[in-house]
Amino acid sequence: MNDMRLIDRATDMTDVKIAARGVQVFYGDTHAIKDVDVDIQDKTVTAFIGPSGCGKSTFLRCLNRMNDTIDSARVEGDIRIDGEDIYDRRVDPVQLRAKVGMVFQKPNPFPKSIYDNVAYGPKIHGLAKNRTDLDDIVERSLRRAALWDEAKDRLQEPGTGLSGGQQQRLCIARAVATEPEVLLMDEPCSALDPIATSQVEELIDELRANYSVVIVTHSMQQAARVSQKTAFFHLGNLVEYGETGQIFTNPQDSRTESYITGRIG
Ligand SMILES: Nc1ncnc2c1ncn2[C@@H]1O[C@H](COP(=O)(O)OP(=O)(O)O)[C@@H](O)[C@H]1O
Ligand SMILES: [Mg+2]
Repeated sequence: MNDMRLIDRATDMTDVKIAARGVQVFYGDTHAIKDVDVDIQDKTVTAFIGPSGCGKSTFLRCLNRMNDTIDSARVEGDIRIDGEDIYDRRVDPVQLRAKVGMVFQKPNPFPKSIYDNVAYGPKIHGLAKNRTDLDDIVERSLRRAALWDEAKDRLQEPGTGLSGGQQQRLCIARAVATEPEVLLMDEPCSALDPIATSQVEELIDELRANYSVVIVTHSMQQAARVSQKTAFFHLGNLVEYGETGQIFTNPQDSRTESYITGRIG
């Protein structure tokens, strides 16, 4: 290998936030993820696409050890965030999930006030010295989630009283309140109407400035709108991974091409 290639590689590596190697997931006898290798970039939106049941959610859950909570799930392989093995036995999964936040398909605010939904994480992780500090974190998080203007006069009202789109932004505010570095989103717009969807998509684009964002979506249009990188999964394999524009216009694998042209999935 010549020197130039070594230098190129080294430069590339500095942008890698998550490095996964040889990842396998089993649910009992079901082999749901098969030997996946991927480097996920920092300050980038990465979309996971593919037919239903291909393993998108399963692989996403590997990235913050959410599969630990599923009894039948077994994860093998190596996943590093900033070079640190997140499956090392010294890693506390609760701390990890503060650093690698997650937003789910259905908005799931706690049955608490808007304020407390956002304040909860920072409180249990001891991120606020006092009430003023906590107030600041809540405001900053709601602003990041583009919800502050709609929520500022009703912070003590229940989070569940917000509209669906507002609830999803509240969940994003709750996730960013613990100062994560990675945000995982599993079909975050699937329960939202088109207006709320485009607000959340705009927000995802803004979040990219500060985080590595990984979004699972069954909408190829959404993947094309919000992501810079796309990974196509099929039957538990990561078939193709690259620049979103390239995946959609010039896929290298026939399975990717079949999917994006609507022949599978
Ligand atoms: N909790 C679970 N228990 C057993 N099997 C599961 C579980 N979750 C997912 N699976 C199986 O793993 C495979 C991948 O599922 P999933 O990751 O949910 O796919 P996707 O998100 O792409 O639709 C499917 O065969 C699914 O039935
Ligand atoms: Mg899924």
